[in-house]
Amino acid sequence: MFHAEVYRNRRRRLISQIGSGLILLPGHLDAPMNYVDNPYPFHQDTSFLYFVGLDQPGMAAVLDADSGTEIVFGSDPTEDSIVWTGPLPTIREQAEQVGISSTMQIEQLPQILRQARQQGRMIHTLPPCRPETAIQLHRLLDIPIDEIPNQCSEPLIRAVVEQRSIKSSDEIRQIESAVEITHAMQRAAARVARPGIREYQVVAAVDHACRWHGGMPGFISIVTTHGEVLHNRVCTETLQPGHLLVCDIGGETPLHYTGDITRTLPVGGRFTARQKDIYAIVHRAQRAAIAAMKPGVEFRAVHRLACVELARGMTAMELMKGDPDQAVAAGAHTLFFPCGLGHMLGLDVHDMEGLGEDFVGYTDTIRRNPTFGWRSLRLAKALQPGFVVTVEPGIYLIPDQIDRWQARNQCRDFINYDALQAWRDFGGIRIEDVTVVTESSCAILGPAFPSTAQQLEEMILSEQSRKDSPY
Ligand code: GLY
Ligand code: MN
Repeated sequence: MFHAEVYRNRRRRLISQIGSGLILLPGHLDAPMNYVDNPYPFHQDTSFLYFVGLDQPGMAAVLDADSGTEIVFGSDPTEDSIVWTGPLPTIREQAEQVGISSTMQIEQLPQILRQARQQGRMIHTLPPCRPETAIQLHRLLDIPIDEIPNQCSEPLIRAVVEQRSIKSSDEIRQIESAVEITHAMQRAAARVARPGIREYQVVAAVDHACRWHGGMPGFISIVTTHGEVLHNRVCTETLQPGHLLVCDIGGETPLHYTGDITRTLPVGGRFTARQKDIYAIVHRAQRAAIAAMKPGVEFRAVHRLACVELARGMTAMELMKGDPDQAVAAGAHTLFFPCGLGHMLGLDVHDMEGLGEDFVGYTDTIRRNPTFGWRSLRLAKALQPGFVVTVEPGIYLIPDQIDRWQARNQCRDFINYDALQAWRDFGGIRIEDVTVVTESSCAILGPAFPSTAQQLEEMILSEQSRKDSPY
């Protein structure tokens, strides 16, 4: 964990912004895979982790915004738990590590909240992302489950999003280290992705590299020869020469900051000429987007710029036609790029989206555009120094979409449907890096890593000719 002062300062700022009432931050419980003693790997609620820093199941914190009192609730080790988990610190010892001196047993939490409610005090809560937490809130606050999303505290959501959006230098160092773990995962993919290997074997190598470096995957590794399926998690295909393999992967540090990087590898080590052409378009769009990012620039404008760059490239390839700006205005690019350019990243791979995507990416004046493609843009608002954002353009040839659009004659002034027929089985290419917005521009986080088609070919050659121990 960070130094206690880091968590103390975060809580102080939150308390002063909320001003009055109680702030209730429930941590996560262990989530059973099939029975209670066989849980999924524990993952703490990330707002609890951000403000309280403790990474054990079954805890909660109450911050009193009137008095400034802070209490951590949890359970002390029992004779039984010592047998199964070994010696663990008491709840008081844990709380002291994060600068909190008052502790209570978790069984006392309902009584504290009941008293506060009887006194008519406001209890601020965040939207729970897990059903167990929703049930807890229902029991603790006597709110019908379906009502919980409406009864959450908007001031608390806004204050948490505001604070978590700006990454401190400590956090940026963590994300850089997550990026380094993720680079090792990408190199592992480049090493094993040869003809005859199954996609799941690449997943095995990628996840192994992650754990080898002390990390844990921050999300299910996406390794697929069907890159046109944006989050394809089926990974049984056998790699063939000429396949494109999309590897969208990210490793978490022990403090749970995550990476999220995508590279698209040519199976067999060499891109074909047409793969290289499309790759170059996506790469140009990514670099143009990153070059345009700086404080004050709206990310929706960066998204648009990337879309125009993609449309320009597709027009040069004669797969699109007409003026690229007009094509984007008409939404024609969404046939090939039906999603957003990127998202915030931090303790969550899509940072804070559990609190509500619109609170994270939009404002009262910058509203979500509901049209296809644009509605998947998760971040639209103006960038600020300290934002950590992924930039992940792609070109996806989705046969079903091509057929639907063609049947409707959709955007026929901008799409060359005849030429597209020869590209139906192309798949998809995505390039993704993690960037930080600085005082005057934007930088890719982590050490330099291969990103052009030629650099990827060189990486594959070098990884596949290594004789030393893995990673
Ligand atoms: N890398 C997964 C995602 O961005 O959704
Ligand atoms: Mn991403």
